[in-house]
Amino acid sequence: MRIVVTGREGQVDTSLQVLGEAMGIEVIRVGLPEVDLSAPETLAGPIRAAKPDVIISSAAYTAVDKAESEASLAQAINGDAPGELARIAADLNIPILHLSTDYVFAGGKEGVYEESDVPAPVSVYGRTKLSGELQIATATPNHVIVRTAWVYSPYGNNFVKTMLRLGESRDEINVVADQRGCPTYAPEIARALLIVAQRVVTDADPALRGVFHLTGQGETTWAGFAEAVFDGSVRRGGKAVKVNPIPTEAYPTPAKRPANSRLSGEKLAKIYDLRLDPWHVSLEDCLARLLGAPVGKE
Ligand SMILES: NC(=O)c1ccc[n+]([C@@H]2O[C@H](COP(=O)([O-])OP(=O)(O)OC[C@H]3O[C@@H](n4cnc5c(N)ncnc54)[C@H](OP(=O)(O)O)[C@@H]3O)[C@@H](O)[C@H]2O)c1
Repeated sequence: MRIVVTGREGQVDTSLQVLGEAMGIEVIRVGLPEVDLSAPETLAGPIRAAKPDVIISSAAYTAVDKAESEASLAQAINGDAPGELARIAADLNIPILHLSTDYVFAGGKEGVYEESDVPAPVSVYGRTKLSGELQIATATPNHVIVRTAWVYSPYGNNFVKTMLRLGESRDEINVVADQRGCPTYAPEIARALLIVAQRVVTDADPALRGVFHLTGQGETTWAGFAEAVFDGSVRRGGKAVKVNPIPTEAYPTPAKRPANSRLSGEKLAKIYDLRLDPWHVSLEDCLARLLGAPVGKE
């Protein structure tokens, strides 16, 4: 199987490359400067030349706060480019897998969000990602839209690496404690995407298509996530950092974020028999890769 993935140095595209190599699956990453999602005319040539069996649309404008002041660029990259990618996939008669976000939801629901819940994004990032979902669904029925959340990994920029960096110079950190979500490990996302890709290239069943939620099992808050990071760091000989839980209004940001963006993984479990590991298990793997084994263990 040959897969074209958009993005060159991002968390998920890098994880796909690493896992693909280990599994003997050819993963071809396309990205800047040759393939620019904000310039749709740059997409078709390199993708067609790669002769893929499936396209994975991973690259995105992911700077949630900056998107508030760069709405048209975010729309071009997150909204219009996925539509163009889906038209290319349709022309090639191959499936497209596309990554979307928990931030398509408003966050007011009491329980976990199901795929059937109505999106109502509260940020430019969320609105542009929802536009991408809709443009893909319009372009081809042969799609799998995978909404994930709170992505972290040893690669790129993410919350875990930010906490570890800030912890080097601080003894205490204020972290928002009233937003709830599901941290998700990019190598786990890659594992799931490769399983989904293998299924959809060989099986035309419409039940395998559509929108699916994919997150690490369990849930936490940003403050709980930070505490787990520092706990893991201390177990590896790092210094203790105190996490002070604060409310969202004490940490104003340009973009609004949902108070609850927990996603149910039941549909994916039912249709694909696929569940990601609990987030704190994956966090151990991430910290082991970033910081080494816990002290006293090999
Ligand atoms: N990160 C999260 O917490 C999170 C949460 C929910 C959903 N998601 C979704 O999951 C997917 C993967 O996220 P991620 O964390 O792996 O993203 P990431 O680490 O921020 O990587 C984004 C990738 O997109 C590329 N890119 C940005 N603008 C581009 C353009 N104009 N043309 C071509 N490539 C461009 C970046 O390239 P450069 O590095 O060269 O700019 C980078 O390779 C995205 O679709 C995102 O919306 C992420």
